[in-house]
Amino acid sequence: MIALAHNPVLVREVIEHLISEKFNIFIDATVGGGGHASSILRHNEKVRLIGFDIDEYALSVAKKTLEPFGERVTLIKGNFRDLKKHLNEEGINTFDGILFDLGISMYQISGKRGFSFYDDCDLDMRMDMAQDKTAFHVINTYNFETLRRIIKDYGEEFKTNAIARAIINRRKKGPIQTALELADLIVKVKGKKGRLHPATKTFQAIRIEVNRELENLSMGLKDAIDMCASKGRIGVISFHSLEDRIVKNMFKSDKRLHVITKKPITPSKDEMEKNPASRSAKLRIAEKL
Ligand SMILES: C[S@@+](CC[C@H](N)C(=O)[O-])C[C@H]1O[C@@H](n2cnc3c(N)ncnc32)[C@H](O)[C@@H]1O
Repeated sequence: MIALAHNPVLVREVIEHLISEKFNIFIDATVGGGGHASSILRHNEKVRLIGFDIDEYALSVAKKTLEPFGERVTLIKGNFRDLKKHLNEEGINTFDGILFDLGISMYQISGKRGFSFYDDCDLDMRMDMAQDKTAFHVINTYNFETLRRIIKDYGEEFKTNAIARAIINRRKKGPIQTALELADLIVKVKGKKGRLHPATKTFQAIRIEVNRELENLSMGLKDAIDMCASKGRIGVISFHSLEDRIVKNMFKSDKRLHVITKKPITPSKDEMEKNPASRSAKLRIAEKL
C-alpha cells in the first residue's frame, strides 16, 4: 500500500502542556505513525511509552519510527475502549499521562480504504481491518430511518431525509459499491457550494458508525481517568464538535479532575497554513487531583 505520511498536529502544545519531566509511564492511545510519540520520547528521555492502535498498517509505521527508542516503547494492537484490560495484561495499573489524538491518519485517507470521496474502491472505512462491519454493510443494508438518524446524529447534516432517500432509491439498481459512487450521489442531492465537499458530513457519520468512534471515546476516556495517577495528565485532540463535546463534558463533570484548558488549545495560524488538516483540531487537557 502506498500512503502519504501523517503530519502530527499541535505537537509543540502537547509537549508544553501535557508532558512533564517527572512522568515515568506515558500512554499514546492512538500512536498512528508515531509522530507525537517520538517527540514525547525525545522530550522526556526516561519515559516509557505504551502505544495503541487498532490499525495494523499504522502500527507497522510506528514500529519503524520508534525503533531508535528500543525497549522504552511497547506497541499494542488494541482498541483504546479496552484500555484498562490491555494495560492490566501488560502489568500496568496506573500511568502518568495519556494522549488521545482522534480522527483518521493520512495513512488511512490516502490508503484507498474508502475514507476519501475520490476512492474508486470498495466502501470500507474500517480502521481495524479485522472487524466485520464495513461502510458497504452500513450503506447497503441499513433501513431508511437508521441511515437518516446516523447521518443526522453523527454528521450533523441538514439534508438527512433527501440523502437517506437517495441511498435507498439508488440501492434498487444494485449495491453502492465504492466511496466515489456514494460521494457522487450526495453531490447530486446537495449540489456543490462552499468550501467543504458536500459529502463531508455523511462520510463523517458513516465512519463514526462503522468504527463506533463516540462509544470508544467515552469508554477509553473513562478508563483513562480511572487509571491516571495523581498529578498525571490526560490530553485529547479532537476534530469535530461531537468528540469535543464528549471530552468537555466528561472532564467538567468528573470531580477527580482539574481542567487545565478552560478553552481548548487550537493550532497556530502558521500550523494551519502549513498543515490545513490541522484546522479543526482542539486540544483539551485535564489533571488528575
Ligand atoms: C490521527 S491518527 C494519530 C496520529 C499520531 N498521533 C501520529 O502522531 O502519527 C489516529 C490514529 O488512531 C487510531 N485509532 C482510532 N480509533 C482508535 C481506537 N479506538 N483504539 C486505538 N486506536 C485508534 C487510528 O487507527 C489512527 O491510526
